[in-house]
Amino acid sequence: MTARDVDLWETARESRDGTGAFQWFGHTPVHAVRRRLAEDGLLTADGGILSVWHDGEPVGRVEWWASSWGRPATSSCWTIGVGLLDGHRGRGIGTAAQTALVAYLFDHTRAERIQAWTDALNVAERRALERSGFELEGIVRRGQWREGAWHDQALYSVLRP
Ligand SMILES: CC(C)(COP(=O)(O)OP(=O)(O)OC[C@H]1O[C@@H](n2cnc3c(N)ncnc32)[C@H](O)[C@@H]1OP(=O)(O)O)[C@@H](O)C(=O)NCCC(=O)NCCS
Repeated sequence: MTARDVDLWETARESRDGTGAFQWFGHTPVHAVRRRLAEDGLLTADGGILSVWHDGEPVGRVEWWASSWGRPATSSCWTIGVGLLDGHRGRGIGTAAQTALVAYLFDHTRAERIQAWTDALNVAERRALERSGFELEGIVRRGQWREGAWHDQALYSVLRP
């Protein structure tokens, strides 16, 4: 990620079209992201953010952060997230980016499990996860408050081959 990527992300976060309907949580600042970019390049042992490029230009980002189903020292896994800029969706980039991120994380970390969740109605992300090797584990009922309502979330994972 570069300062330019964060600027693009900031613009995207100004509107529902910018984030996509399933990522619109109202207005949220990117100040903390800028601070972290200066401090650690947004790449630490606990997670990171990478810019997604296509045809020579930045088109979005992938993220991962440590999560745990027990003691973090022994039961840690990665949760991943993705967001493409408006105008670059629906062209296979989200599938390719998440496929590449999974390979990268299994190559460079000791994770046994990589998980992701998305709105149960987010067909594009659900398909992109499935095409990237993720399997559906279940539905987290009313897990997320967004735009005046609770939304079920679909939980997916991929295990180290
Ligand atoms: C979700 C997202 C990452 C998916 O990436 P993408 O590049 O748009 O998706 P792809 O082109 O790789 O398509 C993946 C699958 O979804 C389908 N798809 C794409 N857009 C779709 C849409 N709007 N409605 C229904 N299906 C759609 C594709 O046909 C493909 O299915 P297939 O493999 O059966 O042909 C991207 O659309 C995005 O950033 N959206 C906004 C932010 C967001 O929702 N992030 C995820 C939140 S957890």
